[in-house]
Amino acid sequence: MKVKRFSSMDDLYSHAVATIVEAKNNGATTFGLATGGTMEPLYAKICKTDIDFSHCISFNLDEYVGLEATHQQSYAYYMNKHLLNQKPFLASYLPDGLAVDPLVETARYEGLLQQYPLDFQLLGIGQNGHIGFNEPGTSFASLTHLVTLEESTRQANARFFSSIDEVPRQAYTMGIQSIMRAKCILLLAVGEAKREVLERLLASDYTEDVPATALSKHPNVMVLTDLQEEENKL
Ligand code: PGA
Repeated sequence: MKVKRFSSMDDLYSHAVATIVEAKNNGATTFGLATGGTMEPLYAKICKTDIDFSHCISFNLDEYVGLEATHQQSYAYYMNKHLLNQKPFLASYLPDGLAVDPLVETARYEGLLQQYPLDFQLLGIGQNGHIGFNEPGTSFASLTHLVTLEESTRQANARFFSSIDEVPRQAYTMGIQSIMRAKCILLLAVGEAKREVLERLLASDYTEDVPATALSKHPNVMVLTDLQEEENKL
């Protein structure tokens, strides 16, 4: 896992855009995308460029169960608002939060991912070490599945809802194995709230207790952060 630390947020996000452009120039056409506060400045920057995704396919990591695509807190809505309305892809896939049968939905989504293998995957990281909504303890062999969100994840995401009670309790997420199949992975860990988990990620062995440590076995992962190493730890 390569780590690049930036003192300027603008430089960090410019580097992220450049990494995506480079992947695209090297032939990437299938992009795994992420949501969350971390990704908003990235998508804002992408929208200001002339990058053309009209021949590319996007997949999102996850979606809340029970929210329709038009719900303002659904990830489908987020993606349209922050990226896809301005930068349309040939096709964009997310799990369907209103699917009637979770087993059919997760099999459908995993089938699409296997049909269009990911060239590139963008990741944030949760304070509990999750990637996508793969909470601590998730099997590294997991494929797309239904998850019950940890209370800490619901709390962290409550800022986007009018109250914690409105935050869904379940979600669909790509599994760790689905993520690990991507050829190239870019993880952004931004902000003081991510300091502890970034340290855990970099210090921990390969353990399902910290889902992001699965990435230590991936051959092509880049982590970008604005967090500097603490001097007494150098
Ligand atoms: P955030 O979410 O960017 O809103 O911090 C990241 C995540 O939970 O994966």
